[in-house]
Amino acid sequence: MWHFFSPKIFYGEGALAALENINGKKCFIVTDNIIKELGFLKILTDILEKYGKEFSVFKDVIPDPHEEDVMKGKDECNKYKPDLIIALGGGSVMDTAKVIWAMYEYPNYTIDNINFNNPELFNFANKAKFIAIPSTSGTGSEATWAAIISQDVNNVWRKGSFAHESLVPTYAILDPVFPKGMPPKLTVDTAFDALSHALEGYISAWKNEFSNALIPKAIELIFKYLPIAYKDGDNLEARDYLHQAATMAGIAFSNSQVHIVHAMGHSFAAVFPTPHGSLVGLFLTYVLKYCLNAPGDTNESILLYSGLAKKLGWAKWEDDDKKSANKVVEKVIELQKLVNFTSNLKDLGIKREDFEEKLSTLIALCYQDPSGAMAPRSPTKDDFSRLYTYAYDGKDIDF
Ligand SMILES: [Fe+2]
Repeated sequence: MWHFFSPKIFYGEGALAALENINGKKCFIVTDNIIKELGFLKILTDILEKYGKEFSVFKDVIPDPHEEDVMKGKDECNKYKPDLIIALGGGSVMDTAKVIWAMYEYPNYTIDNINFNNPELFNFANKAKFIAIPSTSGTGSEATWAAIISQDVNNVWRKGSFAHESLVPTYAILDPVFPKGMPPKLTVDTAFDALSHALEGYISAWKNEFSNALIPKAIELIFKYLPIAYKDGDNLEARDYLHQAATMAGIAFSNSQVHIVHAMGHSFAAVFPTPHGSLVGLFLTYVLKYCLNAPGDTNESILLYSGLAKKLGWAKWEDDDKKSANKVVEKVIELQKLVNFTSNLKDLGIKREDFEEKLSTLIALCYQDPSGAMAPRSPTKDDFSRLYTYAYDGKDIDF
């Protein structure tokens, strides 16, 4: 037996209107100050007022949320007693709201009670349904069953994944009116996060036929529409399709899992705070090459990426598998160049001495990150060290 989880999805221009027919009157909105300043919160509250719904707003979510900050939201939610929890924002907002949702259902929980071994969590969403409205096109959190929250572990803010299948949002509303406001750099970073979800999810240990069906379409849409949205942020068609692609990749990786790229990205961000998308998009090409270089001329990653490249028209059906598989990495590098994506750590402004001093901590954090467990090739400490070092210098992976 296997499983595949997904929220109910409303998408396209005007998708917010779906709120009219979702049962529930009292809404607890989780968001952040930027969303308020951009006027996005007002778009949502105007619609809620139009449909006669009441609301209370918690807008203090910070990027890469810390446990203590999430608890403030939980206390407000438990006082308000909503029957809908609405997350409007990026991954940090949606992840915060998921934990609030779980702790509203189970007020005595600590964050560590949210884990996939907790059978009580199968009895869930009795007090409130959860609606995720992403404002960026990347994290896929609107479709996943995990919340990434940082905890203080020996003075390092380590990103922990708090996951249970019941945390998949009840609804995801993908309205392009929100990502339309993203500046070019954020558009690119978040799209590379989605691309990383898709490409990691395609070769991870939990890959399955449902995720493999969604991933090629998500990749096709990102390659087609990211360059358009990068140049013309107001292009609603590009925004709409990128938004759909991010959720497709989100559903796919939520069920198939990411691996080394995200383990390296989470670990690096814990030591050198950097936007998630710019890290995973950066590590992506190095890790993919490393997976393709696994022993054996026809390892599984080669066969899978060869098929993917052929499906996407990047290689001919008669082409050699290794060459076709490497085409996937070449196309990602091509896309990075097209949208001015920073492809090595040196150019991100990380000082070499700081990087070298923290390298052993980064490697240790990678082994503590649960994402790494699903990797198609298991990096040794030396592999992680070389992956980071090659990514620092922008050097081609040759191992
Ligand atoms: Fe991600």
